[in-house]
Amino acid sequence: MMRMRHLLESQQLDPDLLFHLFSQAELFRRNPNLRPLNGKIMATLFYEPSTRTRLSFESAMLRLGGEVISTENAKEFSSAIKGESLEDTARIIAAYADCIVMRHYEDGAAKKAASVSRVPIINAGDGKGQHPTQALLDLYTIYRELGRIEKMKIAMVGDLSSGRTVHSLSYLLGKFKDIEIIFVSPKNLRMKEEIKEYLSRHKVNFREEEDLNKILSEVDIVYMTRIQKERISAQDYEDAKGKYVINLNNLNLLKSSSRILHPLPHVEEIDLPLEVEQSDKRVAYFRQAENGLYIRMALLCYLLECDNFSHASTLNFVANLS
Ligand code: CP
Repeated sequence: MMRMRHLLESQQLDPDLLFHLFSQAELFRRNPNLRPLNGKIMATLFYEPSTRTRLSFESAMLRLGGEVISTENAKEFSSAIKGESLEDTARIIAAYADCIVMRHYEDGAAKKAASVSRVPIINAGDGKGQHPTQALLDLYTIYRELGRIEKMKIAMVGDLSSGRTVHSLSYLLGKFKDIEIIFVSPKNLRMKEEIKEYLSRHKVNFREEEDLNKILSEVDIVYMTRIQKERISAQDYEDAKGKYVINLNNLNLLKSSSRILHPLPHVEEIDLPLEVEQSDKRVAYFRQAENGLYIRMALLCYLLECDNFSHASTLNFVANLS
């Protein structure tokens, strides 16, 4: 199997590689003393804000024995402010680090950087494009929570037009059988046509709805997302704000085996008391964020070729989930 060099979009990830990464993530979860990336350096280059993605990547690298260099708020504090092109920045940083994790406000920015970089580029979110490592941790969480990916019904809820997490997750789900997706959004924030066409080509059943409560009882996963004020018009934001909320009134429409995921940060679309978030097993988004650490450890090892590329350990993976 040819190794993936950069991770730019989730279409690059096939089920074999996904299960390999899941099994490596379990290995790191259970063996905190492994240091396979000793001597390696990761650069984080974030032109947009982040809590989870940047810090979980940095923690992943440090836990694996590697080191991190970073420019916080690259839009202001890198030489981009002096007019340096993204390509020049990527070429320079590739000389200082063994891989680059990059978030940018423009669609396609990671691809642009990868076209000139001699080290792996990891797309940590590009504009309204994709966020493939979020989809990776989302799928890993679904697998850990449900014990399966296939034969699963998922609702993706919120601003589906500019939400890069739902774009990447849709592409990833297109790789599996017996998946049904319900896209729940206002009419003007619907899933992109190109993604619906991709799902049709891959024979994934999907439909579009506007009423969240109507579909809650039928799904295994409800994937909530924030209405992205910063990426849509003020009018679209006002129309959509507060339209889709999980609260005490509709929580019990969900089956006891269902799970609520959210890439986070959440604002008003999750309105549950802290004690419910802490005690109700259906609330899975904090476990989901934690899973990001282990799956990013696995991804770094894979891209830096420090993993043992064997699928044998994935065979009894479900049975061994803790
Ligand atoms: N889910 C996610 O990308 O979170 P951050 O913006 O905090 O990285």
